[in-house]
Amino acid sequence: MDLKNQPLLVIGAGIMGAGILQIAAQAGHTVFIFDQKPGAAEQAIENINKTFQNLIKKEKITSEDANVTLSRISVIKSLQEASSVKLVIEAIIEKLEVKRALFKELETIVSKDCVLATNTSSISVTAIANGLSNPQRLVGMHFFNPVPLMKLVEVVSGLETSKEIAESIFNLSITWNKTPVHAKSTPGFIVNRIARPFYAEALALVQEQTAPIQVIDACIKAVGFRMGPFELMDLIGLDTNFAVTSTVYEAFFFDSRFRPSIVQKELVDGGLFGRKTGKGFYDYSENASNPTLPLVAEKYTPIYKNLVVHGNGNIKKFISEQLKENNFTFSENSNSEWNGLEVDGFQLRETTGQTASSLGSNVAVFDICVKTEGQPYLAWACSKTASAQWQVDASNWLLHLGFKPLRVEDRPGLIVARTLSMLVNEACDAVTQGVCSVEATNQAMKLGVNYPAGPFEWLEQISSKNVREVLNALDSFYRGERYRTSPLLN
Ligand code: NAI
Repeated sequence: MDLKNQPLLVIGAGIMGAGILQIAAQAGHTVFIFDQKPGAAEQAIENINKTFQNLIKKEKITSEDANVTLSRISVIKSLQEASSVKLVIEAIIEKLEVKRALFKELETIVSKDCVLATNTSSISVTAIANGLSNPQRLVGMHFFNPVPLMKLVEVVSGLETSKEIAESIFNLSITWNKTPVHAKSTPGFIVNRIARPFYAEALALVQEQTAPIQVIDACIKAVGFRMGPFELMDLIGLDTNFAVTSTVYEAFFFDSRFRPSIVQKELVDGGLFGRKTGKGFYDYSENASNPTLPLVAEKYTPIYKNLVVHGNGNIKKFISEQLKENNFTFSENSNSEWNGLEVDGFQLRETTGQTASSLGSNVAVFDICVKTEGQPYLAWACSKTASAQWQVDASNWLLHLGFKPLRVEDRPGLIVARTLSMLVNEACDAVTQGVCSVEATNQAMKLGVNYPAGPFEWLEQISSKNVREVLNALDSFYRGERYRTSPLLN
């Protein structure tokens, strides 16, 4: 079914409904808007008008474009007024019973060939369709906030959704200049599921005092994420982020991988929701004093007799280049089982998950570098029994390699290796379970949450062997099911 230019109805004129209304009208559709709250639809149109006035000022659109687009929108006071539409997009309150009742009512109003779409972010599309006389025509059309700017649309199929209907929403999304991906209706769909470890591992690191929030944020941003997990949770709102995690956790029958964090719950209980309340992990008030990164020591000329670069691949190449550039004399051992630098028998190893302490006495481990050019902050940890001198020297060598080293507690996978391994693992499980394809996953995470790369792009770079090693190390350190590896990695 070709939905291009067909008249449509948006129900719910809140944040999401207003955004959908705007882009549908801009794409040329005649759009009806309905909201049960008096004045809400008119307010949404007023806000769209304000947006257009700004775009006119910036010369992005003409006032004629704005007028034509606005003339396509009409507010309706009763659903009956839109009985001729070919598509309904629902963006009302996130409550199963309310959505179900609405779609049941719609079935008595619209024609049999009208497609019904829900913008639900967390409810099963199968469950919403339960009780409809034609559940095949109900499909998820999951937009991301802010709708006009975010490219991704997850096209979510419930058990009964017809392939043709999902395809028609997929094709329609393209005509709206969006990038659609297909997803099976499972908890969190693609993005809200695969993104969970980004927050969960960061929260676990803070709970066990591996590193403070600003250190974790700095290390994560150093590999290309626009925001660190704590900055992002503050932006999303801790209440919202906690609610999504709790919903996904329950929906997966309390799988420990998705367990919400008491660190986050405490802030939510205290009304510290982040930016919107002025305080969350960080303080946003005028004279706030937020935690700062520890000062990175000045580098000094190291004293050494014998330098060996171990391993192969990108990091070995990078270390060798840095040493050459700084006129250090060294040899290479490309048959080594670890990557890094050996200084007179002391080891500075790229993490493969094991703690430094479990690898020996004079060992330090550093986090993985998925971005070898210009990755400033880098987490590292030292063996508990390392000499006082090596604890200082290891950091100094990282400085000479061009990093700003941030020392953290000696835990498996440090910060980046742990986080990326868990993101990749979740993505692998989603693909194994038929929720989405590899390509859809990469697209969804890059466009839905602005990740610098897709999970399967990281996997290619890091290798499944390395991801497995990090997960196995986490698994044997913490025990329990949280760090079990996805079948796709084996
Ligand atoms: P919102 O609270 O801003 O707007 C909801 C609107 O629906 C309100 O104007 C309300 O008056 C109206 N409404 C409630 N029940 C209604 C009913 N029975 N009939 C007609 N109108 C009704 O909510 P928001 O954030 O726009 O969310 C809407 C939907 O989109 C939810 O299902 C949510 O899970 C989903 N969503 C939200 C995202 C977000 O970032 N806010 C992202 C993606 C999906």
